[in-house]
Amino acid sequence: MTETEIRARVAEAIAAQAGREGPLLPMLHAIQEAVGHVPDEAVPMLADAMQTTTAEIHGVISFYHDFKRAPQGRHRLRLCRAESCQAVGAAALHDEVRERIGLDWGETTPDGRLTLEAVYCLGLCACGPAAMLDDRPLGRVDAEGLAAAVAEVR
Ligand code: FES
Repeated sequence: MTETEIRARVAEAIAAQAGREGPLLPMLHAIQEAVGHVPDEAVPMLADAMQTTTAEIHGVISFYHDFKRAPQGRHRLRLCRAESCQAVGAAALHDEVRERIGLDWGETTPDGRLTLEAVYCLGLCACGPAAMLDDRPLGRVDAEGLAAAVAEVR
């Protein structure tokens, strides 16, 4: 997607939500839906539309972790870092998984196939260490099982 196309999609997303009450979050969701993330170009455009500062817009985007600032992978691996999973060895597992797949938290493979994310509870606490690969919950995972699951998705 060219910068011109990105700007056009952002402008459309902003215009489509402009009449709403409290439109900033709907605008951000619409931009992410249209572009795949909230690009840098969107920040001043949103500030103009909302008649506020770019710092204010940055603050909102960074507060909500679901808004992504960079293109995301086609697949998303989320590893739970919350207490119950930590109690059953998640930290050591995560070190091994990050080493195997070559990604740190928040990174995406150069081919755009996979993004690695940290989450803080997936509601699978009784089955820790827990993970989600796209919409697929994975419980009592080990590094080999996760690497195999990741190898299956293209
Ligand atoms: S603490 Fe990991 S799923 Fe709840």
